[in-house]
Amino acid sequence: MLGELVELARSSLARADFGPAQREAYLLLGHVLGLTEAQVLARWDQQIPEEPEQRFRHMLERRLRGEPVAYILGRREFYGRSFRVDSSVLIPRPETEHVVEAALSLPLPPQPRVLDLGTGSGCLAVTLALEIDRASVVAVDISPAALSVARANAFDLIGDRAFDRIQFVAGDLAGSLSLEGFDLVVSNPPYIGLDEEAFLSPEIREFEPRAALFSPDGDDAIIRRLLAELEGLTSGSHLVVEIGHRQSRRVTDSLARSGFELTSMTEDYQGIPRVATARRR
Ligand SMILES: C[S@@+](CC[C@H](N)C(=O)[O-])C[C@H]1O[C@@H](n2cnc3c(N)ncnc32)[C@H](O)[C@@H]1O
Repeated sequence: MLGELVELARSSLARADFGPAQREAYLLLGHVLGLTEAQVLARWDQQIPEEPEQRFRHMLERRLRGEPVAYILGRREFYGRSFRVDSSVLIPRPETEHVVEAALSLPLPPQPRVLDLGTGSGCLAVTLALEIDRASVVAVDISPAALSVARANAFDLIGDRAFDRIQFVAGDLAGSLSLEGFDLVVSNPPYIGLDEEAFLSPEIREFEPRAALFSPDGDDAIIRRLLAELEGLTSGSHLVVEIGHRQSRRVTDSLARSGFELTSMTEDYQGIPRVATARRR
């Protein structure tokens, strides 16, 4: 019976202590059966066929080994839209929505050109293309597998015109690009230092792509590199970058040294300075 399966999942997930056990039990079973949480509750006493039950048990095993729910479901919400994810991309985080909010608050020209460095699932590139009517976006990632996911998200969410709106480029940060004409650069670079690896939860450390997490030469080294590569940006253009939890002072200094004027620092939901917005002098 459906209720018994939910209860089995809830209790084993609670023992494993990875996340909100009850909610995850509903989510996984709801996904397999194509039901909302309320519909799962309403069908508590129903039998479920063998095939979905087996799929559900397989998903539960993956979750009990620590795999994040988003990878098991293959989807995560970002800024109110559902994005595909797989193990080649970072799972979009709520704090990255502050990058979108900061970008949308900027005074941009009517047809802005936007550059997203380290696009991953494409959550920033696709969201900005949808939220800014006539924006054209270039989205760069070093990982070809991540770019495939980003392209799929663009097509799912924007449709036939996706690739007129967003150009996907395999590249190493901004190195291969001409920066002329960009009005806005957004980035959520991999800003975790290798020395912080041991402090990450196993869900992150063992399942999310290393290239999406770690800055190999020190936590804010990638941001310094990014700023050096953005020297060619036109005066007056904007940069919105997500930063790590102890980086605000260092990033503010690096911005000043690199010819950017910090215009705002947005805190995340925990009150940690998380998104730096700056203007090219
Ligand atoms: C923290 S993830 C951000 C993904 C997505 N923008 C988001 O906010 O969820 C960083 C992304 O940068 C990419 N990346 C890492 N080093 C890079 C580099 N040198 N050049 C381009 N992309 C890079 C990774 O593959 C990963 O997709």
